[in-house]
Amino acid sequence: MENIMFPNSIDSHLSQLEKINPVAFKAIEPRIARESFDCLAKLSRNEFTPEGRGSDYLDSIQLSLLARSEGVMDLLGKMHPNGRDGLCSSLIFCDLLAGDGYVNKVAHQLLGEARCPSFINSDVSKFMVDRCIRDGLFATWQGATDPFWIKDGSVDGVLMAYGTHHIPRAGRATAVRAAARILRPGGIFVLHDFEEGSPTARWFADVVSTHSVTPHDYPHFTAGEVLDLFAAAPFDDVTVQRISDPFVFHGGDEESALQLLAEYVVKMYGLEKLRSRTQRVLALLDEYFGVVVARNAHGECEARIARNALVGSGRRV
Ligand SMILES: C[S@@+](CC[C@H](N)C(=O)[O-])C[C@H]1O[C@@H](n2cnc3c(N)ncnc32)[C@H](O)[C@@H]1O
Repeated sequence: MENIMFPNSIDSHLSQLEKINPVAFKAIEPRIARESFDCLAKLSRNEFTPEGRGSDYLDSIQLSLLARSEGVMDLLGKMHPNGRDGLCSSLIFCDLLAGDGYVNKVAHQLLGEARCPSFINSDVSKFMVDRCIRDGLFATWQGATDPFWIKDGSVDGVLMAYGTHHIPRAGRATAVRAAARILRPGGIFVLHDFEEGSPTARWFADVVSTHSVTPHDYPHFTAGEVLDLFAAAPFDDVTVQRISDPFVFHGGDEESALQLLAEYVVKMYGLEKLRSRTQRVLALLDEYFGVVVARNAHGECEARIARNALVGSGRRV
């Protein structure tokens, strides 16, 4: 069977995945239907491509892998009943909006090989999936509303984070039901986004929309919407919380930590029109989030912006 994503064949892609991670491979559907790819090529042309802000986005991660790690580790802890202490490589976690495998990379760096879950990184952007594979990560090309690569009841945790608002409102209930389909009973689904009316949502509407290379006009989430989404799918133990999800940077002095913060934000959001305007970027960040600079216990300067995120979680019945 041949396909545009796979210069050789789906079969050779499957054997490559099996070599990358035999544990994660257990959740992969062995018979992928050719029709499943029909709408992917169109969906893949989103803003996370080199023509949009995809390359800049990946450059932001290169600048600082751990800038968003506090929030990431909090989310991973919610994906196991024993929190972070329960995480280990025999668990299969599917990140349905994986980008270049950011959450997988942070988990691997901070938890180490033995405690890092086996990730199935999944994204609708082929550019992002190719990047995961290039970096040696287990990755599948599929949309969050139809994770057709993954067997029913086969994974221990599902994550939708850092971009769930990109799923159109009309598709969100389908995406949550799809998460339930691939989870084993007792597995945990964590949905993360930013709250309508929050500083982050306003930052997207006011700053990203006007200064980015790509428009950013996506509805975020309300706590009620998250509850309704979980209620319409087979989940119990449902919670909706607000968590702290900051950007944090370190430098030898205040100026270098702030410079890194500004560069990161310009790249992450593709803020082309603010590219060399560090002071303006910092003023905007201070206005929307508050910028705090402090010396940490190691004598380094730490620049931090406080973001809050809305997080729903539920256990597959
Ligand atoms: C803001 S990026 C976040 C990537 C990564 N989780 C991170 O934190 O760096 C959002 C990602 O979601 C992907 N995406 C958008 N809509 C999607 C959909 N409907 N299904 C799957 N992936 C989608 C984009 O291609 C992009 O890679």
